[in-house]
Parts: sequence; structure tokens; C-alpha cells
Amino acid sequence: MEALRILLAAALFLGTASAVSLGVVRTEGGSVQGKNIRLGLFRSMDVFKGIPFAAKPGIFEKPKRHPGWTGVLKATKFAKRCLQVSLLQTSSFGNEDCLYLNIWVPQGRYVSSNLPVMIWFYGGGFLVGGSMGANFLDNYLYSGQEIADRGDVIVASVGYRVGTLGFLSTGDSRIPGNYGLWDQHAAIAWVHRNIRSFGGDPENITIFGESAGGASVSFQTLSPHNKGLVKRAISQSGVAFCPWAFSNNPRKVAEEVAEKVGCPTDGSMVACLKSTNAVNLTMAAPRVPQGSPDKPGVTYLILSPVVDGDFLPDHPGNLFHNAAEIDYLAGVNNMDGHLFTSADIPSLSGKEETPVEDVKRLLGAYTKEKGQAGLDLAFAEYSTNWGSTPSQQAIKTTAVDIGTDYIFLAPIQAAIHLHAANAKSGRTYSYLLSEPSLMAGPGRPYPHWVGADHADDLQYVFGKPFTTPKAYGDSQRDLSGYMIAYWTNFARTGDPNKGKLKVPVTWPTFTTTRQQFLEINAKMNESYTGQKMRLRFVRFWTSTLPSLPSVGGTARQ
Ligand SMILES: *[C@@H]1O[C@H](CO)[C@@H](O)[C@H](O)[C@H]1NC(C)=O
Ligand SMILES: *[C@@H]1O[C@H](CO)[C@@H](O)[C@H](O)[C@H]1NC(C)=O
Ligand SMILES: *[C@@H]1O[C@H](CO)[C@@H](O)[C@H](O)[C@H]1NC(C)=O
Repeated sequence: MEALRILLAAALFLGTASAVSLGVVRTEGGSVQGKNIRLGLFRSMDVFKGIPFAAKPGIFEKPKRHPGWTGVLKATKFAKRCLQVSLLQTSSFGNEDCLYLNIWVPQGRYVSSNLPVMIWFYGGGFLVGGSMGANFLDNYLYSGQEIADRGDVIVASVGYRVGTLGFLSTGDSRIPGNYGLWDQHAAIAWVHRNIRSFGGDPENITIFGESAGGASVSFQTLSPHNKGLVKRAISQSGVAFCPWAFSNNPRKVAEEVAEKVGCPTDGSMVACLKSTNAVNLTMAAPRVPQGSPDKPGVTYLILSPVVDGDFLPDHPGNLFHNAAEIDYLAGVNNMDGHLFTSADIPSLSGKEETPVEDVKRLLGAYTKEKGQAGLDLAFAEYSTNWGSTPSQQAIKTTAVDIGTDYIFLAPIQAAIHLHAANAKSGRTYSYLLSEPSLMAGPGRPYPHWVGADHADDLQYVFGKPFTTPKAYGDSQRDLSGYMIAYWTNFARTGDPNKGKLKVPVTWPTFTTTRQQFLEINAKMNESYTGQKMRLRFVRFWTSTLPSLPSVGGTARQ
């Protein structure tokens, strides 16, 4: 009898416990209803998928407010990705109607309120990507659930236009460009206006992203249009200064696209482009073929943000005053260049020898604008410690370092430095992720020395070692826990060390004089802080090389 009473009480109690959910939420466009996922006795997650934050965008037009709907919108399915080319660029998929976002809201004993909010922007070279990320067995890469649950924050992920529809620009006011950035901005503004109804604090919004998403975050902080909307920002492996993230010569690309879709390149080009259908425009994006040491793959990423006189009124380097009140956390993976460099020089990751000549050709491509003088200086810089007969490992790791420095590390350090130099109330934090690649080691595709490759950070930030425990070990779960702790503490307080989760090592702020950074990996301890990350090479790419005279007037686009 007693047992029955307890059971009954427990059942009633559980019934109430599981009832903690937002239910139907009213937004500016109408009501939405997501799904409540039970995670534990007093823990659940309200998940909303596919909420429109803007109307279907017109071709080469800024996003507009959604006209709204009547009734309750079932927000239980991810919207289609924005129209984009397939991996092999032989077809296209996705939808023009793609300005949707997803929201994860953690619930405890009571319905949450005033939670910090984190908005995710995906990477994909401004050419591909989706708000939910790649899907393995219904486990989406960018599911916000682990971050939201562990960090007690709201996570939102956002669709934005990519490729031709997102970033084509004629370099003037007729097709100014930056449509994908305007989409992101519209999503930030929507979250700011609506997130209170979901239990979020509109004054505590953090934007974060990786690769082109990290560069997007950087652009959003530099634009005057986000003033007062964004409190903090995290750039993983991408900033506005990355060579692939910014286009100086968009007109040339626009003409290339025009020719492919059968439009003239004279005065009637714009009208013709605007009347071309979205699929044809998407398919006309410049191809990104397999790279070679003479023409590295990354140099084909040429549909990128531009100075449009509006979203970006000036060159990114002159816009850091707009981020003076924003807390900024940014960093790089210690072998971020590996993915790219080993595609340009396949022998790097194999057993075959890598000729020094290949390394020189790659450097020559990166320093092309400065001719032989640039190459000679660069080669001297990178081969100083080689001795007379460098080992194969020395040659290969140097090639990866060159790629990492040029494509990511040097521009990221420059952006971190400028943020700190221009900051008023905003704090600055810098990291280096050095966890060895899971693909490296005996019996695996990569040699043992391969460290954190491009995109390796994603699995840890999104908590995959917890979601798919069989694919990972305990040390990777430690690392994932550390990253989620730093990231969500930062979103909550502006300081990655302070918040709801304990961190293993105190992360010092970056100042322009001491230039501290935190090295992150599964084994980190108090000795994992450093200063002046690869300063000698950062100086080379950001100061020594640019000061050389350019040859032949062939400015890099
Ligand atoms: C953000 O959240 C923190 C911690 O919950 C709170 O102290 C602060 O008042 C909130 N608002 C702003 C603008 O920081
Ligand atoms: C799109 O491309 C196809 C094949 O190249 C062509 O037949 C069609 O006319 C194009 N449509 C428009 C609207 O440009
Ligand atoms: C920190 O880690 C390093 C390298 O992993 C190790 O050599 C050192 O003993 C550790 N220090 C402490 C205080 O645990």
C-alpha cells in the first residue's frame, strides 16, 4: 500500500516534472511550437527547428522581414539549406527560401528565463553549408543540444545565403554584395527582438562560428549595423583578414559568372544577371578544383565579403572601433592548414617523400604578388632551422606550418591584436587548439605528427564525444567538457573562466603588450598558457611581406 502511494506520488511528480516546457511561443511573425525532449528527471530541452527569421530573399536583394503567418507553425523540421553547389560542383541542391533558424532552450525544474544566447554561423568557404551541419544517423553536427544542456545557455543556428546568391558583387552600388552577411545580421536582429519569449536575455547575445562562420562573426562585429545587438563574439579558425574571406576585385568574378550564364559583361550585365534564375546563378560559381603547389585550393575561394559602403563601410582593418564594446574570443588550430596543404601537396600526408621544391612552389604561390624577392624572404624565414639536410618530417611539418600561418594563424593574430588595441569595455582572449588529429597515428590515414586539423574543433565544441561516446575516449570527453565550459562561461559573463562550469586552467586575457594565449588540449594544465603566438611568422605575413613592392600590378583578388 505504502509502495503504491509512493509510486503514485512519483508518477504524479514525474508528470509535473516533464511538463516544464515552453509550449507554444509567440514571435513577431506568429506562434511557433517545437518539441520537448526529455533528458533527465528535471532536465529537458525545447527544440525549435525551421523558424523563419526573414522572408524568402529576392536575388541580389537584402533580406526583408517575414510577412508572418496565422495559426501555430510546427517548428519540428530543419529547413532546407540555402541553394548551393554539391560537393563535386556538378549539381545544386537546397532552396532559395532558406532564411530560417533553429533554437535549443534548456529547461530545468522551472521554465528558463534570462539565459545567455549563443548564435552559430556555419563554415563552408562562403560557398556551402547549412544551419544543422552534416548528418550522421540523425546526429547533426551543429545540434545545439549538448552546449545548451551543459552550459545552460540558449543556442540558435542560422541559415544564410552562400555562393553566387550570397556573395556575388559588381563592386559598385548596382550589385553591392554581402547578401549572406545581411542574412546573418537579420538573424541576429530577429533573435534580439524575439528571444525573450524563448527565455533568453537579448542583452547577452554571443555570436560564434568556425572557418567562414568565424570570419562571418568577425565581419558582424566590425559592421556598424550590429551596434547594441551583439555583446560577445567567438571566431574559430577564421577572421575578416583571412586571404579567402575578403575580396578586393569582385567585379572580375561577377564577369566570370556573367559569361557562364550567357550574360554580356557590358552595361547590360546587371539587368541580365538579375533576370537569370537562381539555380543557373548558383551553378555558375567559380569552380574550386583540386589544388596544386602552384595554385593552392584556397586561392579559388573568391566569392567573399566585400567593402560595399554599407554593411562594411570601409576595409575591415579600419572598422575595429565598432567592436570596442564587444568581448572577443578567437583562435586557431595548430595545424589548421593541413587539410588544404595536404590537398595541394598530397605527398605530405603519405609515405612518399615531399620534395623541397614543392614547398617552395607553395610558398611562391602564397607570395606571388611580391615576386622572387617575396619567395626568397619567405623561404629563408621558414627554413632557418632545417640545417643542411632537413628530415622529411621537418619538410612536411614546415609545409603545413606555412599553410596554417598564411591561411589562418597570421590573419587571426592580427585581428586579435587589433581588437585588443581598439577595445574599450570589450575583453580579448586568444587560443591555440593543439589536440592531435583523430585521423593521425599507426593504421590511420595521417602520419603521427598531425595535430589539430581544420574543423577538428567542431566535434569538441558541439559535444560529440558525449553524444556519440563509442567514437571517442575519456580524454576527448575531457577536452569537449573544457571547451564547452570556456565557451559558455564566456557567453554568460564575458570571461571564459567565470560562470556555471569549472575550467581546468585560468585563461589570461590577451593584451597588446603581453599577448597571452591559452593552449587547449585534453592534457592541458596550468603550464598551457603562452605569449606572442608564432610572433616571428605573424610579423612576416602581416608586416615584412606586405611592405615589399608588388610586382606586375597583379593584385591578389
Ligand atoms: C548578462 O548576464 C549576466 C549574468 O547572468 C548578468 O549579470 C547581466 O546583467 C546580463 N546582461 C548584460 C547586459 O550583461
Ligand atoms: C538555365 O540554364 C539552362 C541550361 O544551361 C538554360 O537552358 C536555361 O535557359 C537557363 N535559364 C535561365 C532562366 O537563364
Ligand atoms: C603539465 O603538462 C606537461 C606536459 O603535458 C607536463 O610535462 C607537466 O609536468 C604538467 N605540469 C603539471 C603541474 O601538472
